[in-house]
Amino acid sequence: MSHVYRAVGWNRQKRIYDLTLAGGVGLYLTLFVGLGILFHPQATAETLLIRALGTCAFLLLHIILMIGPLCRIDDRFLPLLYNRRHLGVTMFLLGLAHGLFALFQFHALGTLNPMVSLLISNGSWGSLGQFPFQSLGFAALIILFLMAATSHDFWLATLTAPAWKALHMGVYLAYGLLVMHVALGSIQAHASPWLALAVGAGFVLVLGLHLTSAQRERVDDQKMDRPLFPPDDDGFVEVCKVGEIAENRARVICLSGERVAVFKYDGKVSALSNVCQHQNGPLGEGRVIDGCVTCPWHGYQYRPENGASPPPFEERVPTFRVRLEGDRVWIHPTPNPPGTFVEPATILGGDL
Ligand code: HEM
Ligand code: FES
Repeated sequence: MSHVYRAVGWNRQKRIYDLTLAGGVGLYLTLFVGLGILFHPQATAETLLIRALGTCAFLLLHIILMIGPLCRIDDRFLPLLYNRRHLGVTMFLLGLAHGLFALFQFHALGTLNPMVSLLISNGSWGSLGQFPFQSLGFAALIILFLMAATSHDFWLATLTAPAWKALHMGVYLAYGLLVMHVALGSIQAHASPWLALAVGAGFVLVLGLHLTSAQRERVDDQKMDRPLFPPDDDGFVEVCKVGEIAENRARVICLSGERVAVFKYDGKVSALSNVCQHQNGPLGEGRVIDGCVTCPWHGYQYRPENGASPPPFEERVPTFRVRLEGDRVWIHPTPNPPGTFVEPATILGGDL
């Protein structure tokens, strides 16, 4: 949460996550190679290993891409999100191992440097059947490397959230390149149609989940963006009743296209942007813990009255002016600059 580098902190939950991941990857590779030896005795161990590593990385990439929309559709997937970065780094390492083995297997025996050979030995850029598909895998690997190398929060803070997020959107470009890498590779290898079918099904699944979650968010925003009453003379909008917000929880409303989380805690009401500075997590689905709004995704914290993380952290989210009239909560839809103090509205006994 700050610019100072801090080593990754391990806890029980992270250990279980990583052990399950390592166990799953180990089991997949063993089964792939074992069954390959059994059913394709003519295939060499190197070929099986290259295929096992490549398919394992590609499968993990699908899981990574599906976690975000799944969490937006159903909260029960949230535990998968906490350490999604560990999945990303594991996927990169598997892709790297696959690429290195392929480089040795297909490019190390000639007179050219294997890297040069990878990039220039096949110049059939205009032919679908002969396309140099390995270059696409290489381009994807460079993008995945940049993302894995900057995955620590230190880089998030150093690069700033917008630049970091833009860089990490590169995962979609890498995915597109890999879909082409595998599809064109399978045409060239005259591989069984199952591989092409699986790639197509994976693509449809990833796209379908993204479209479904985007559509849900649009509908939710439209529902939430209908103020019950017109704004008053000062521009404040009535959003809900105090009793409709659970203690230490928020009610999320959409004002002028912006999601606002209205929190009730310690006899007060404050309103913050719903968007966490870390990775856009939904603050309004978090709780007030130790006096701070705590993001449900990775636990970043913000003080409800000024939207600032407690020292030494430096994250800040926009705040909104709040007013209580009887038991009704009114919010001004114009966001204050991130970290601006706003006097919380005090709940009188009868308002609860
Ligand atoms: C320098 C980078 C890369 C090189 C040189 C490379 C090379 C290759 C080669 C030669 C094949 C055909 C293997 C065969 O048919 O026996 C292949 C297939 C494949 N590659 Fe890559 N690749 C690279 C990067 C990647 C990355 C980053 C991923 C995934 C994250 C990936 C996923 C796959 C998959 C899923 C297959 C299909 C495996 C199969 O036929 O069962 N590749 N790659
Ligand atoms: S999105 Fe990671 S803590 Fe909020």
